[in-house]
Amino acid sequence: MSTPSHDRSSQDVGNIVMLEHVNVTVPDIETAALFYVHALGFTRDPYIDLGPDLMWINLGEQQFHLPAGEPQVIRGTVEIVVPSLAATQARLEAMAPRLADTRFEVRSASTSLEVVGPWGNRIRCFEAAVGERMQLGMRRVEFSVPRGSTAGIGRFYDRVMGAPVATADNVCTVRAGPHQALCFTETDEPIADYDGHHIAIYVSDFSNPYAGLIDRNLIIEDTQECEYRFQWIVDPDSGEPLFEIEHEVRSLTHPLCGRNLVNRNPDQQLATYTPSFDVFSPRKPGSLI
Ligand SMILES: [Fe+2]
Repeated sequence: MSTPSHDRSSQDVGNIVMLEHVNVTVPDIETAALFYVHALGFTRDPYIDLGPDLMWINLGEQQFHLPAGEPQVIRGTVEIVVPSLAATQARLEAMAPRLADTRFEVRSASTSLEVVGPWGNRIRCFEAAVGERMQLGMRRVEFSVPRGSTAGIGRFYDRVMGAPVATADNVCTVRAGPHQALCFTETDEPIADYDGHHIAIYVSDFSNPYAGLIDRNLIIEDTQECEYRFQWIVDPDSGEPLFEIEHEVRSLTHPLCGRNLVNRNPDQQLATYTPSFDVFSPRKPGSLI
């Protein structure tokens, strides 16, 4: 028998095929648009009329969902990839005066921009590498979790959700498709009470995680054929509740799966308009994921 040339398991995607959106309620849609559209350069979903009290924001193949309501804050950081960090920084700084009465902040780090949104959500922007598949999108969401919880969190995603997990140095990284991850980092800092924000994932095996969640009495919403929700991550060995983050779990047969999310090129300006450069394509035409 020949010796394996590579660790082929490093390319296994597992059951979570994509992290699709992060949902946080916002008290003011107009201020949210200043931040997500004008400052960050993302695109308001042009196709579905969601009414004046809900905004969907496209960034590559992912979205932020922003319903009107009391502000919700993710207990961690959303990491995103942008085509140009310099262009993003310029847009953020140009909008800073308009966001001066909010919690908005932007700070330049060595390889990233550390951004705080108008109501305290933290976003870390990285510049896409040359040739990187994700040139614009949501690369991962990092959650701060209680000390001692990551081993159990890893067991949950491995055994209940069927996702590859790497746990090291009190950090649990859960693979979410080819290019994304959920990351859980232990902290000694106080963790805010959970306020009901959620993430949405697509899974290939829809029924077995459901059975495991039903067995543990973890399903909190069960009304649609192609979607269910759970909120508590528990240790499958002990049943101990470890961390709350609502997961909207969608099947690959969900009507919204694979939607073509229109992304504009935010560098198009009236004064420097370039014909045929209106659209930004975050992926090759025809690719599935
Ligand atoms: Fe959602």
